[in-house]
Amino acid sequence: MKKIDFDFKNRTAIVTGGAQGFGLDIAKRFLSSGAKVIIWDTDLKMTQKAIEVLNNPNLSTNIVDVSNFKEVEKCTNEVIKNSNIDILINNAGITGPTASLWEYDFEMWKKVVDINLMGTFNCCKTIIPNMIKNNYGRIVNVASVAGKDGNANASAYSAGKAGAIGLTKSLGKELADKNIAVNAVTPAGAKTRILDQMTKEHVQRMLSKVPRGRFLEVEEFTSLVCWLSSEENTFSTAAVFDISGGRSTY
Ligand SMILES: NC(=O)c1ccc[n+]([C@@H]2O[C@H](COP(=O)([O-])OP(=O)(O)OC[C@H]3O[C@@H](n4cnc5c(N)ncnc54)[C@H](O)[C@@H]3O)[C@@H](O)[C@H]2O)c1
Repeated sequence: MKKIDFDFKNRTAIVTGGAQGFGLDIAKRFLSSGAKVIIWDTDLKMTQKAIEVLNNPNLSTNIVDVSNFKEVEKCTNEVIKNSNIDILINNAGITGPTASLWEYDFEMWKKVVDINLMGTFNCCKTIIPNMIKNNYGRIVNVASVAGKDGNANASAYSAGKAGAIGLTKSLGKELADKNIAVNAVTPAGAKTRILDQMTKEHVQRMLSKVPRGRFLEVEEFTSLVCWLSSEENTFSTAAVFDISGGRSTY
């Protein structure tokens, strides 16, 4: 795939869930485009691996659970002591188990919504005051086509992602008079570790709905996120950008 040059020099980006999958690829592209990147993730082993793979002095990391407001607030305060936060990619997420709603474990349902929705809220709430102060910010909330269509046996995930889409629409309007853009992206299935959390049949069902007839590649996803995160995105905000290979056409 031919890649466009993005200029992220002098920009600092937080990428949640950046230790692997989509987040890791976004972090890699931001770094190679000149940004300073801070990965926030709960997985220590994968974070250490990401540090090795990315091997870049402009990368730093924190082990932080985005669903824990106090932890997020502490990490935000540490960053803004030395630097502004220009870009926030709310990418950390889990699918939770594949189960019908009435058989879903109560605590798991809550956890899935806490990470996918409250995690996005927590990061936005702590970081946006810094963006307002600098009148600059680009926020991308990684939702899912599940949040638009609703996937059977994934009610917690679909609800959490639908919530993140609603949050994006409200927040984008609240910040529209500033140079701060807030958008959501709704990918279809890509071959990352998150697929291990679902049954093979569920993954096959998801794939069968995609007119392109294949999984999304992480690099294809990163391209869209990069444009939304760039200075060139001067108008789009409060919007939902689809990247589902034709599955979801609204
Ligand atoms: N891969 C897909 O098919 C797909 C499709 C649609 C949407 N998404 C969304 O894309 C995002 C990235 O997913 P991925 O496919 O790269 O998955 P992944 O499992 O490869 O990566 C997710 C990362 O998030 C981290 N994480 C989980 N809970 C966290 C928490 N509470 N705090 C901080 N970090 C946490 C994990 O440790 C992991 O490193 C998720 O929000 C996911 O819902 C993925």
